Amino acid sequence: LSNPPRWRRVVFKISGAALAGNDPQNVDPKVTMLIAREVAMANRLGVEVAIVVGGRNFFCADTWLGTTSLDRAMAYQIGMMATVMNSILLQASLEKLGVQTRVQTSFTMHEIAEPYMKRKAIRHLEKGRVVIFGGVGAGLGNQLFITDTAAALRALEINADVVLKGTNVDGVYDCQSRNGNNVTFEHISFRDCATRGFSAMDMTAMSMCEENGIPVVIFNLLEPGNISRALCGDQAARAKVE
Ligand code: GTP
Repeated sequence: LSNPPRWRRVVFKISGAALAGNDPQNVDPKVTMLIAREVAMANRLGVEVAIVVGGRNFFCADTWLGTTSLDRAMAYQIGMMATVMNSILLQASLEKLGVQTRVQTSFTMHEIAEPYMKRKAIRHLEKGRVVIFGGVGAGLGNQLFITDTAAALRALEINADVVLKGTNVDGVYDCQSRNGNNVTFEHISFRDCATRGFSAMDMTAMSMCEENGIPVVIFNLLEPGNISRALCGDQAARAKVE
């Protein structure tokens, strides 16, 4: 790992789909513990880590909307609550490793977690705690991507150095390649992402990061060592975009 870490403060976006791993019950304990171990390592090295996690392993609003014509806002609310479940699971996994962790939700759930407060989140990070933002998103469009946008927004709010997106996809998927091959871009510009029909991250999130000069790194979090490399800013983490 690069020493000292390149990033001071990061927003680590974890896709809900990646959490599912191979487990029939929607969350693979091997994946959550892998994430917790690597986040703990970066935390010990002094990287301030804030996490935004998706919820698709529990509920995909768009799939439901497509087949049930369920009310859109309600479908997204269920998705938001799914992200809280993932947040609590990650908190429990991190605390098992002795990492102090605070979950902050975008809507009040006082019995479960503290409400989102930007200044308090920053204070927690400064004190060496990992902060997990639960219940983010909803109403911003496609549920597949809304937590990406929330991650970008939180990164802006807490003055993060970078948005790190961990997926279960190797490299960056190029949705325009007709043969269906995955394409790994080692280092590409935001402009190239747009012109190549880049689909590994929501475009709204990408433009928010671009406009505010926040780099984005996309990597496969299931590859051992990749998370801590990305969190510390090691060049070996895959598919860097800035
Ligand atoms: P500092 O005292 O500022 O260092 O932060 P702290 O988080 O340790 O203090 P605080 O007294 O705010 O919180 C103590 C514990 O209660 C922490 O685990 C918080 O996550 C938790 N907590 C704080 N506010 C709430 C809340 O509204 N709901 C729930 N469920 N927990 C809360």
